Amino acid sequence: MTVPAVELDGIWKRFPGVIANSGANLTVRPGTVHAVLGENGAGKTTLVNCLAGVYRPDEGAVRLGGREMSFSSPANAITAGIGMVHQEFRLVPTFTVAENVVLGAAPRVIDQGGIEALVADLAARFGFDADPGRPVWQLSMGERQRVEILKALWREANVLILDEPTAVLTPQEAVELGEVLRRMVAEGRSVIFISHKLDEVVSFCDEATVLRSGATVAASLPVAEVDASELAKLMVGDVAVEPVPVAVAMPGDPTLTVDALSVRDARGLLAVDDVSLEVRSGEIVGIAGVAGNGQRALTDAIAGLEPVESGTITVMQHDVTSAPPQRRFRAGLAYVPEDRLGVGLAPKLPVTENAMMRAYRKLRRGPIIAWDDADQLTDQIIREFEVKIGSKGAPLASLSGGNLQRLLLGRELTGEPDILVASQPTRGLDVAGVRAIQRLIVQQRDNGTGVLMVSEDLDELLALADRILVMVEGRIVGEFDPRVATRADIGAAMMGGSDRGTRPDTEEVSS
Ligand SMILES: Nc1ncnc2c1ncn2[C@@H]1O[C@H](COP(=O)(O)OP(=O)(O)O)[C@@H](O)[C@H]1O
Ligand SMILES: [Mg+2]
Repeated sequence: MTVPAVELDGIWKRFPGVIANSGANLTVRPGTVHAVLGENGAGKTTLVNCLAGVYRPDEGAVRLGGREMSFSSPANAITAGIGMVHQEFRLVPTFTVAENVVLGAAPRVIDQGGIEALVADLAARFGFDADPGRPVWQLSMGERQRVEILKALWREANVLILDEPTAVLTPQEAVELGEVLRRMVAEGRSVIFISHKLDEVVSFCDEATVLRSGATVAASLPVAEVDASELAKLMVGDVAVEPVPVAVAMPGDPTLTVDALSVRDARGLLAVDDVSLEVRSGEIVGIAGVAGNGQRALTDAIAGLEPVESGTITVMQHDVTSAPPQRRFRAGLAYVPEDRLGVGLAPKLPVTENAMMRAYRKLRRGPIIAWDDADQLTDQIIREFEVKIGSKGAPLASLSGGNLQRLLLGRELTGEPDILVASQPTRGLDVAGVRAIQRLIVQQRDNGTGVLMVSEDLDELLALADRILVMVEGRIVGEFDPRVATRADIGAAMMGGSDRGTRPDTEEVSS
């Protein structure tokens, strides 16, 4: 038997109040793509950070090629051949591709053109299509990710770690990434691929290790011999995962109409560019797109949190284009923002106060708040939306992500809105939490509420939405019927057409 490229043996890592890893194991053979699977919070990132020198494990051994290592910094790990592509990229936007690739590791006796040629060679060797002379700020997320990978390859990484790399990619880019990884391991390297998307794991990984609550529950399963439902069961444990019931929508009258809406971002650029859409009662309209294409500015503008440059927003026949948020809520709008602990909830206030925020006016008797009623309302939300809390007086920040989202959605929905705008409502939740929130949204639709749902998870939109709009660079570029559209069709639209290399905006800047 060959010596493993990587062995993490009985890794423990504690943070104040949290045990992130409790005796986790991971063994990666050379020449393989090894998936590390697990739900949010399972301890995946912490475990690989112990390998990449970001953390020192409290207990346990790290071995590379059979030799025990003790990294005191990421630089140590890089020298030992560990390359890591973090969830957030760490590139210098104003530098070129080549400059970023060699940053801190440039050969001394060579000029700019020479470096660009070397980086171009490296890219070609792995089948990347990358222009070494382009500044990074002009690149798509997929292209930036390739620069991160090239950076690791430049430093002769023998083990490449990718932490949830496909979260920022279109479906096509994810397939391309899979091909690049296959090419890397064909040369004898190893890849550790963190994901919670089973289809990717099945399509380009050789083995899978599953983490649950910080520990390894299945090690080095041969992916070809296990099926996805088995992996899913290992990830979630004994929690029953019921499918979300999906009825056929019967759309009625318009609840939300957005007409020729434009919104500028903080830098004065058009984040939303002439968007028109309509959501009728009893339908879920999904907005698909790669993160950062104006989705957030659109929903914030609808909720009144972002000023409008031009165009109109109508909620239930009322023009609310320049109305304050409270008036929009009274007109029938509910908003579940992307940033739950920003505008959505107040982390330091107790659960009760967060639960009653929306009903504040109703609960006021003159200058006095009717606390008994507030208490009752909180109880009702906690019961109906199955929010698990320690006590109602505890600060909201003590709740887990799934329970925060249930409380937020519960609060918004007890107001019986006509139109619910939900931005990434299931992001960061575990599988059971995702299902619960999806079921609530479908229920709401079946009760006649119009739903506008932004999600970066195309599978989620394909499963729930009655119509899917694709947003690219602030514009709606296509509409799809999820019953007939394929992932590939929608993915192509998400990239702004299949001809990504010659997008007009990137051409303009580089010439
Ligand atoms: N730096 C940190 N400080 C405190 N808690 C942390 C830190 N990093 C991770 N955690 C906690 O450790 C647990 C595992 O987190 P993580 O390794 O990020 O999981 P995953 O990557 O599987 O989602 C979570 O409960 C998380 O909140
Ligand atoms: Mg993580």
